[in-house]
Amino acid sequence: MNDVPNTLSLIVLGISLALLIGILLWWLLITTEGVYLGRRVVVWLYDVYARRYDRIKQYIPSWESTTLGRPMLTALRKARVPAPLVLDVATGTARLPLALFGQPAFNGYVIGLDYSRRMLAEASRKVAPIGFRISLIHQNAMDLPFDDNTFDAVACLEALEFMPDWHVVVGELVRVTRPGGLLLLTNRKGQEARMMPGKTQPAQAFASYLREQCSLEDVSVAIWQMDYDLVWAVKPGKSLAAPDHSLEAILRCPQCGHRALIRTRGKNPALRCTDCETQIPIASDGVIEFASSIK
Ligand SMILES: C[S@@+](CC[C@H](N)C(=O)[O-])C[C@H]1O[C@@H](n2cnc3c(N)ncnc32)[C@H](O)[C@@H]1O
Repeated sequence: MNDVPNTLSLIVLGISLALLIGILLWWLLITTEGVYLGRRVVVWLYDVYARRYDRIKQYIPSWESTTLGRPMLTALRKARVPAPLVLDVATGTARLPLALFGQPAFNGYVIGLDYSRRMLAEASRKVAPIGFRISLIHQNAMDLPFDDNTFDAVACLEALEFMPDWHVVVGELVRVTRPGGLLLLTNRKGQEARMMPGKTQPAQAFASYLREQCSLEDVSVAIWQMDYDLVWAVKPGKSLAAPDHSLEAILRCPQCGHRALIRTRGKNPALRCTDCETQIPIASDGVIEFASSIK
């Protein structure tokens, strides 16, 4: 007699459980883009979506120019740097480099770094016409292969919340910015930000962190997109801009950490460390395969 209600409860229980698992998987893989499952899952998801990324994002070039390229160029000009050296961490498909090089008055150099090789492959295709003034490096943002105080400006857009530890990445961004240099970051906001506990924070809390824990100056938050605010800041102090913008002059060897790389050409182009003989391959699409050179 009791069999029907029992079966019904089992079916309801089964459906509820399946729904719960579905919601959990959606949250883990879609809403939070794998960030609670570790760095490898995040990067794998970006690899999977790389070819569709721009179609999903639908960036509008005039908006990119007005809100990113032009303001950054203006800030760099104010700092009177003749040919600025810019680092874009988690560059993705080269959004910031393209916004900057889209400004005819920009005469600097950009390094774009990302841990998703396929995002970099897309970036490489798009920046090909720019030539030697842009380099792309495959590497983890948690450990930037540059000396302290190297770049005139450092950006990291729509990415901090996907890092294993955003505090470490912000520390790295500040470390490699030269005194007097500019930082351009984003802070996630809105409904989805609230669904990423520990990975996001209110804009004012982030700004206070940058002021108090990172000793940055002129920290300002600007409303930008529905999901993100832009956060501008300056590293205190003054220093001279790097005289040599070549990759060989600024990239550290992944093994010995020395700045002793020279470019070797020929069939298998690479950067070779003259101290420890480590080779960093340069792939056919021009991407510097830094991550795979770390033993
Ligand atoms: C939402 S996309 C943003 C890309 C680009 N900055 C933009 O605004 O279009 C996030 C990027 O962070 C990169 N990323 C995630 N974890 C990373 C890590 N640990 N190191 C370097 N890049 C990482 C992803 O591969 C992806 O390209």
